[in-house]
Amino acid sequence: MANIMSEKPTDVILGIPEIIEKYRIGEKLVMVTAYDYPSARAAELAGVDIVLVGDSGAMTVLGHESTTMITIDEMLMFCKAVRRGIRSPFMVGDLPYGSYEVSDEQAVQTAFRFIKEAGCDAVKLEGCGPMSISRARAIVQAGIPVVGHVGLTPQTAVTLGGYRAQAKNAEAASLLIQGALALQGAGCFCLVLEAIPSVVAELVVERIEVPTIGIGAGPATSGQVLVFHDLLGIGEGRDAKFVRRYADLLEAMKCGITDFAKEVRNREYPTTEHEYKMDPQEADTLRSILRSEED
Ligand code: KIV
Repeated sequence: MANIMSEKPTDVILGIPEIIEKYRIGEKLVMVTAYDYPSARAAELAGVDIVLVGDSGAMTVLGHESTTMITIDEMLMFCKAVRRGIRSPFMVGDLPYGSYEVSDEQAVQTAFRFIKEAGCDAVKLEGCGPMSISRARAIVQAGIPVVGHVGLTPQTAVTLGGYRAQAKNAEAASLLIQGALALQGAGCFCLVLEAIPSVVAELVVERIEVPTIGIGAGPATSGQVLVFHDLLGIGEGRDAKFVRRYADLLEAMKCGITDFAKEVRNREYPTTEHEYKMDPQEADTLRSILRSEED
């Protein structure tokens, strides 16, 4: 199997200072999700700034109907594989549902696992209510960088009325802006804004000092993130409004496997170029050994 790690990695290793500097000079930040070694390698080779090991992997990789089912151990396995595949991008691990809500202590303990066992540079958690703000503050105080996530927070999609845009009225938008400010106050060094009206994202960006990464939040944010499977066209079904597909890999994968199946069935694969050879004399010796054993 080909090993793409043999490609030369970029020299720059992105930490928080480099990300903040890009933000300061107005360079858009590029974040993409990854869940395993090949997706991580693709992200690194494409030169993205931040790789998010998202709990979206519950759906895109594990086939669950929502993100709530994924466990800490499954997320850690994804993170470890991604860590092996990237060197330059900053790596954020998503704290899964149920791994941080119970107490600040639980949140800090889970966050430490993502850093110590899986080599993440930071963790992300969802929400901007009092619980999320307290957990973010506790994790930051323990010395772990935290990315906040507001707007559509898939772990609580049921409470939010499904996978739909949030903060569409003035009252909800004002609460979201207060929440974003509170996450910043708790020490989050970056915020993801998901599925909110562009004008609300603009008002957040005007008011906070940390970089924002948008997904369905319009063009005003400091950067953009898309889910790997969405942007490369690996998933089936209808895309969210904010998704642009930059490739159709599901079709490419289907064609590749269909061609393989056809050639196997037609005896066109493998051909002699794919065969391991044995010295004909060795083959003769083998045949006579077998004959004498079978007599
Ligand atoms: O889990 C995920 O992929 C995410 C992104 C959508 C931001 O949280």
